Amino acid sequence: MPSYQNILSNRYTLARSWTLEVAERAGAYQQARKALTSMTPDQIKAEVKAANIRGRGGAGFPAGMKWGFLAPKKEGQEVYLVINADEGEPGTFKDRTIMEKDPHRLIEGCIIAMYAIGAHKCWIYVRCELVLSIARLEAAIREAHARGFLGARPFGKEHALDIHVHPGAGAYICGEETSLLNSLEGKRGEPRLKPPFPAVKGAFGMPTIVNNVETISAVPDVVAMGGEAWSNISLLPPEMKDGGTRLYGISGHVKRPGVYEAPVGITMRELIYDFGGGMLHPDRKLKGVIPGGSSTPVLREQDKVEAKDPKHPLNKWHGKSHLDLPMAVDTYRGIGTMLGTCCAIVMDTSVSMVEASRNLMKFYAHESCGQCTPCREGTGWLANVLDQIAAGKGKPSDVDLLVDISNNMMGNTICALADGTAMPMLAFVRKFRKEFLEAAEKGLPQSARLDEAIRSQLVRREAA
Ligand SMILES: Cc1cc2nc3c(=O)[nH]c(=O)nc-3n(C[C@H](O)[C@H](O)[C@H](O)COP(=O)(O)O)c2cc1C
Ligand code: SF4
Repeated sequence: MPSYQNILSNRYTLARSWTLEVAERAGAYQQARKALTSMTPDQIKAEVKAANIRGRGGAGFPAGMKWGFLAPKKEGQEVYLVINADEGEPGTFKDRTIMEKDPHRLIEGCIIAMYAIGAHKCWIYVRCELVLSIARLEAAIREAHARGFLGARPFGKEHALDIHVHPGAGAYICGEETSLLNSLEGKRGEPRLKPPFPAVKGAFGMPTIVNNVETISAVPDVVAMGGEAWSNISLLPPEMKDGGTRLYGISGHVKRPGVYEAPVGITMRELIYDFGGGMLHPDRKLKGVIPGGSSTPVLREQDKVEAKDPKHPLNKWHGKSHLDLPMAVDTYRGIGTMLGTCCAIVMDTSVSMVEASRNLMKFYAHESCGQCTPCREGTGWLANVLDQIAAGKGKPSDVDLLVDISNNMMGNTICALADGTAMPMLAFVRKFRKEFLEAAEKGLPQSARLDEAIRSQLVRREAA
């Protein structure tokens, strides 16, 4: 196993790491104290910008830039911080490790972030199934209040701070930030049209910063080390502006599934073979890997980086396998996929890609909120066509129908759920077309059912 320094997860292995007593002894709240007693909000914002934290919730938007978009506070207005702890993306289970093992790190990050953006109130919107996360966060907030880290004068500063945990109702779409805000306000969890973006008009109509759990949990270390030093932990050159350390998840057909911390820019090969311990069954090869949660297009080892032009940002890796390209927001965009939540699902040669995509499409059809016709109808049709193919009632033209439906969904909807359905579907068909054509002619045998290692990641509730 590679020996990168654990920073974000350095308290995970301490006994009772979630308690204030243990966390504080190991350094918790020192950075919040430093930020509130010796730094101005602008200084903190400048460090966060220099840190090049790309949002850890999936889209990879730079946190410093997002904070900069916050509309100036008008008379009578509040500014809010909302933490996205919905973590509903199939294959993704990293945020819950922070909430369960080190909730005080997230709370410390919230304190610093609230002070920096001028907010007094923060909601942590947690998926309701994450019962332990909710319990640990609530206990940690109580402890932080009792110690005077939250409340009317945190660390003696005249800047009241309050954090509330809000359990969500367990709908995948409520992880989309504007849908989350509607749900938080007690409305139906449907995405809003953007603009206005939440930084201009967010929770209860007020300017709001929505950030992922891991994004905000990085903030105390950014304050401790300085933004530039934190950014330079990344293995990527600084001009790629993708800094720091991050949590990598790995599941499926590997020997050691789990969550591991490493700098930004390790390769998928390292993640699978060094951290994940290699393929679960030594006699079966890697067939494909979904790199960052189920909405990200599948990668194959045999595909090579195409970047001949010396000016191409990926030129350094031209000709290398996709598995040997550093994992980062822009490198993965450059090969037609996404880093997403950075939680990979590894599939060996036993997996039917038709069955894997069928399971996924049933999930998306179930989770579409139904506001947009291309998404409501498209997700349903993708699932129906794949059901027909699997049942032996398909025809070769159905494979092109899958492509056609997907193309009609892309870019035509209110939120990114539709793109996050269509992009992986297109990649499955493009990279495994022969398998889809064969299934369209013969159907899928019973043996094509996914085994538990994959089902537990791809399949959610009714989607099975
Ligand atoms: C369908 C859908 C589900 C999402 N689910 C989550 C989620 O569970 N957690 C999360 O942090 N972001 C999720 N996102 C991304 C959020 O909309 C948003 O980009 C993110 O919370 C911003 O935080 P960040 O900039 O710190 O990454 C989802 C997006 C979509 C389209
Ligand atoms: S894209 Fe789908 S999930 Fe998103 S708003 Fe439209 S119908 Fe709802």
